[in-house]
Amino acid sequence: MRKPMMAGNWKMNKTVAEATALAGQIVELTSGYTNVDRVICPTFISLSAVKAAVGSAPIGVGAQNCYWEESGAFTGEVAAAMLAGLAEYVIIGHSERRQFFGETDETVNKKTKAALTAGLTPIVCIGESLAQNEAGETQSFVSGQVRGALEGLSGEQVQSLVLAYEPIWAIGTGLAATSQQAGDICGGVVRATVRELYGEAVAEATRVLYGGSTKPGNIAEIMQQPDIDGALIGGAALDGKSYGEMVRITSEVYQK
Ligand code: 13P
Repeated sequence: MRKPMMAGNWKMNKTVAEATALAGQIVELTSGYTNVDRVICPTFISLSAVKAAVGSAPIGVGAQNCYWEESGAFTGEVAAAMLAGLAEYVIIGHSERRQFFGETDETVNKKTKAALTAGLTPIVCIGESLAQNEAGETQSFVSGQVRGALEGLSGEQVQSLVLAYEPIWAIGTGLAATSQQAGDICGGVVRATVRELYGEAVAEATRVLYGGSTKPGNIAEIMQQPDIDGALIGGAALDGKSYGEMVRITSEVYQK
C-alpha cells in the first residue's frame, strides 16, 4: 500500500518571513492527518527557517533543485549534500527548470543520483508540452523522460523516490488534466515504464504523483484514481487553508 503524498511546490514565491508563517499555519492545519505524507518545498533561502518552523511535526521539507557536484566553482548552485539537515526531499527536473534553465534528461539523472547519494528523496518531474500532447506523443515522450531520469539506478533506489507527472499544459493554467487522463498516464505510462524496467514489485512500490492545476475542488476525484498516489501542488499550496483542505480531503479518500 503506497502512502499518499501532498507536496507543495512553492516555486519562487514567499519571502523568508512569509514562508515561515505559512509553514507554521500548515503544521497547525494538517497535524491530524497522519495517513498523508505532507511535504513543503520553499526556496533555498527559506529552507532553514521553514525547517525550524516545522520543528518536530511530521512534515517533510523539500528543496526545488540541487546540483550534482559536491562542491567547487559552480557559482549560484547548491550541492545535494548541502541540503542534508535542511530538507528530506528535493524536486528534480521540474518542467520550468527544463524549459527556462536548460535541464535535460541527462542532468535530471545526475541530480537524481546526487540526491539519492546525499540521502534525500528526489521528487522527479516528467510531463509533455501541449504540442506534444496534441501530436499524440505523450506516451513516448513521458516514457522516455522516465527512462532518462532513472538510467543506472537500482530497483531499490527507484522505489525510494517519487515520480511526479505534470503535463506542462496543465501547470498554472487552471486546466487540470481530467482525473481519468491523469490516472491513465500515471498508470499506463509512468508506472508501466517502471514496471518494464524494474518489474512488478518495484512498480507497485513506487509513488507517482500528479501535478497541474490541482485544488481542493478536484483533488478528491484525482486521488480516487488507483495509480495516482498524491499531488505536486503549485498555486493552491501557497495558501495554507487550501493546502490544508487538500490534505484533509486526501486523508478522507484514503480512509475508505
Ligand atoms: P499548479 O498547481 O499551480 O498548476 O502548478 C503545478 C506545479 O507545477 C507543481 O510543481
